Amino acid sequence: MFGNFFSHLGPRILVLFSLFSGMLGDCGPPPVLKYAKPFDPITSSYKPSESVTYGCLPGYKEDHSKKYIVHCLADSEWEQIEEFCERGCETPQETRFTVVDQDYILFYPVGSVVNHVCHRGAEHIPGHPKRPATTCLSNYTWSPVPVFCK
Ligand SMILES: *[C@@H]1O[C@H](CO)[C@@H](O)[C@H](O)[C@H]1NC(C)=O
Repeated sequence: MFGNFFSHLGPRILVLFSLFSGMLGDCGPPPVLKYAKPFDPITSSYKPSESVTYGCLPGYKEDHSKKYIVHCLADSEWEQIEEFCERGCETPQETRFTVVDQDYILFYPVGSVVNHVCHRGAEHIPGHPKRPATTCLSNYTWSPVPVFCK
């Protein structure tokens, strides 16, 4: 008797459930960023709790302090995301006589300043700065380093 009851009700529960999950909302296509794009092909429909992961466009680097994943929230809105990719300078050049006086970092935004020092074994040229600085310029190149070691 119960078996009969449930087999009768079953399909209706299923229909109700799919109606309900359909009403749970849809965030639509994910936010568009200028300097990043979604890793995976996007679709036009995302349900709450689904997420999209972005990667920087070629030539841009991610600021690791910022978010690169957005979630479709319960209210069918995408979580806020700000641009997290920036263009910066390449790793500053070391030469036969000089090294960068700083631990390796992944990203040098415009305005970064690094100091150079003589390589162990190289000799400082008297009268020149001991730790000359270079700056990452707005055209993403480093300002020149004077010759100061030999
Ligand atoms: C970048 O800007 C600096 C300072 O304005 C300039 O001297 C240098 O030639 C520029 N480099 C390139 C590759 O445009």
